[in-house]
Amino acid sequence: MDFNPSEEHEAVRFAARDFAQNELLPGIIERDNAQKFDPELINKMGELGFLGMMVAPEYGGGGMDTLSYVIAMEEICKVDASAGVIMSVNNSLVCWGLQEFGTEAQKQKYLVPLATGEVIGAFCLSEPEAGSDATSQHTTATLNGDHYVLNGTKNWITNGNSSSTCLVIAQTNPEKQHRGINAFIVEKGMSGFVVGKKEDKMGIRASDTHTLMFNDVKVPMENRIGEDGFGFKFAMSTLNGGRIGIAAQALGIAAGAFELSLSYSKERKTFGKPISDHQAIQFKLAEMATRIEAARLLVYKAARLKDEGKDYIKAAAMAKLYASDVAMWVTTEAVQIHGGYGYVKEYHVERHMRDAKITQIYEGTSEIQKLVIARELLK
Ligand code: CAA
Repeated sequence: MDFNPSEEHEAVRFAARDFAQNELLPGIIERDNAQKFDPELINKMGELGFLGMMVAPEYGGGGMDTLSYVIAMEEICKVDASAGVIMSVNNSLVCWGLQEFGTEAQKQKYLVPLATGEVIGAFCLSEPEAGSDATSQHTTATLNGDHYVLNGTKNWITNGNSSSTCLVIAQTNPEKQHRGINAFIVEKGMSGFVVGKKEDKMGIRASDTHTLMFNDVKVPMENRIGEDGFGFKFAMSTLNGGRIGIAAQALGIAAGAFELSLSYSKERKTFGKPISDHQAIQFKLAEMATRIEAARLLVYKAARLKDEGKDYIKAAAMAKLYASDVAMWVTTEAVQIHGGYGYVKEYHVERHMRDAKITQIYEGTSEIQKLVIARELLK
């Protein structure tokens, strides 16, 4: 398998790095402090094509491969993992799901504005009692003539307030268990659709995460994605690709903290020499770089398999499991290398450490990734 990025991939890396360093870095500490989602920055990401990277050009996207997408994710998350999760949800979960399983009318109406970044999307699966156990959906979608009536609550929804188009998973026929679940395209502004509490999060604070409530929301039949009962398969298939995006986010967080640590270690002096001259720091840097490289190879492998149309379920789960652990470990080491400076906001690594934690939790906890991997190994 060829992991060498082409000239086009390097151009994507350059564009994403340029945007991250020049547009995202100034103000990131303030956005993190204030939990400020900045619509202007997200608009710019849309203009630069980062919100619909893998969508076909006829639907307003960049027509790029998954490898390009993970390269861009890494560069953006080196600086701003909040922008990264907004990008990841829009690209992997919402746009990809619609492109792969939507009807032509759904693509024209919803995918085009999502891919161009005119609007952003949200993926609504988790509930107060359905996180890891995603089949236990309490949100109901009752068929009533030419429409469904949606009732229920979704929790921890990325882009919860800022999104215009939401993909909502709901139970239509409980007797059929997961085969009775459906996925719907729900517009903000549909009567009975209420944006609830905003979460005050440990990390990725510059992205907005909300509870969403559905009170007798009328959703037209044509907004159902796929055949009746396809919703759980839709969610699982979409999450397989989503895990590659989150793995790339974790990789970026780790790589960002590593780069800061490397340059800090050459500047900071103790005992009369730069700390990079001390073996204790050299060992840390060497191990950080090695684990990051291993994570990058797993992320690239999963992306390549997806691009080649091969089965990537196990590879995606492995990439996410490993890269998220690397992100947590590397960022903790980065804070340690920075000492007291690492514990204050100005040096950025404490934010990377806080941001890293969520990559072990969302789009399936590390335990869920192990379950997915084990099932693939044993089947
Ligand atoms: N890919 C495709 N299909 C899959 C699949 C996968 N990875 N995993 C399961 N399926 C299919 C099965 O083949 C089965 O299909 P059939 O009916 O045809 O047999 C069906 O789904 C049910 O499978 P299981 O019986 O194995 O389901 P389960 O109840 O045991 O659960 C699970 C499997 C892996 C634990 C699943 O529930 C899961 O992945 N949970 C985690 C959910 C998750 O990641 N939530 C994150 C929320 S989204 C988010 O975080 C977004 C954000 O804001 C950033």
